[in-house]
Amino acid sequence: MSLPVPTSENRAVVTGASSGIGTALATELASRGYSLILVARRGDLLAEHAQRLTERYGVTVEVRAVDLSDRDARAPLVTELASRDIAILCNNAGVATFGALSKLDPAYERAIVELNAVAVHDLTLAVLPGMLDRHAGGILITGSAAGNMAIPNNATYVATKAFTNGLSESLRGELKGTGVHVTLLAPGPVRTDNPDQDDVSAKIPGFIWVTAADAARQSIDALSRNKMRVVPGLISKGMSVAGTYTPRRITAPLVGSFYKKMGS
Ligand SMILES: NC(=O)c1ccc[n+]([C@@H]2O[C@H](COP(=O)([O-])OP(=O)(O)OC[C@H]3O[C@@H](n4cnc5c(N)ncnc54)[C@H](OP(=O)(O)O)[C@@H]3O)[C@@H](O)[C@H]2O)c1
Repeated sequence: MSLPVPTSENRAVVTGASSGIGTALATELASRGYSLILVARRGDLLAEHAQRLTERYGVTVEVRAVDLSDRDARAPLVTELASRDIAILCNNAGVATFGALSKLDPAYERAIVELNAVAVHDLTLAVLPGMLDRHAGGILITGSAAGNMAIPNNATYVATKAFTNGLSESLRGELKGTGVHVTLLAPGPVRTDNPDQDDVSAKIPGFIWVTAADAARQSIDALSRNKMRVVPGLISKGMSVAGTYTPRRITAPLVGSFYKKMGS
């Protein structure tokens, strides 16, 4: 089975579409003819991207400016998606903090859990019944290679990405033969337009990075083929395998000291 063909009625949803990988996923899907619902907090950026995509690809693009870390704010979106013909859901919005958990703002750490994990669960549960009824659909979940590891000084992020990695790969197994595809995007470093990345960029060698456009293209290709996991870039693939199979008592202090520098 392949992904649903784009129609004037159905939609591909991309969360975190106002920058980075989400913007690239939206562009990739529009280039394949999908009309879209773009979600993030910065509605002005979403509207600009929507206009570009409509002009370039002739698709319909709707914008939902929503704080996904706020349960009350995201409830109307959850209800809306449950009632619409959603061909593809890209659960992509996510943020990270660096540093010792005890030194970070507890309210913000809780918001990260809501955004990176609980909202992903909510939106997935919203679209799943409709996809099962139609025997077709695709759910891409952006986790992270970090979700395979223990990383001191990145605890909340790593824990939420372990959740998304596990959710995606487990759910995929349940949906075998239903026509609904589920793919985990578990990238290493992906270069984006986000200025917050500049500090991190300086600490990671250039050859390790992949572009957001490459990550997006490989992700939608992988989702079309119902691949379990996509890790864009050869170096990232190697790092992902090493991170998964090297004992955590060895990797945790090594990687943790690197993330401590990022926290400072
Ligand atoms: N780039 C990498 O190296 C890398 C590596 C591994 C995994 N990832 C994962 O890839 C995903 C995208 O990352 P990125 O690098 O593209 O980051 P990014 O450029 O910072 O984009 C994050 C997106 O999430 C949205 N977002 C943040 N908080 C939100 C909230 N409370 N409610 C709704 N939307 C919110 C942002 O939009 P607004 O600010 O407008 O709300 C933005 O569109 C994340 O899940 C990240 O963990 C990235």
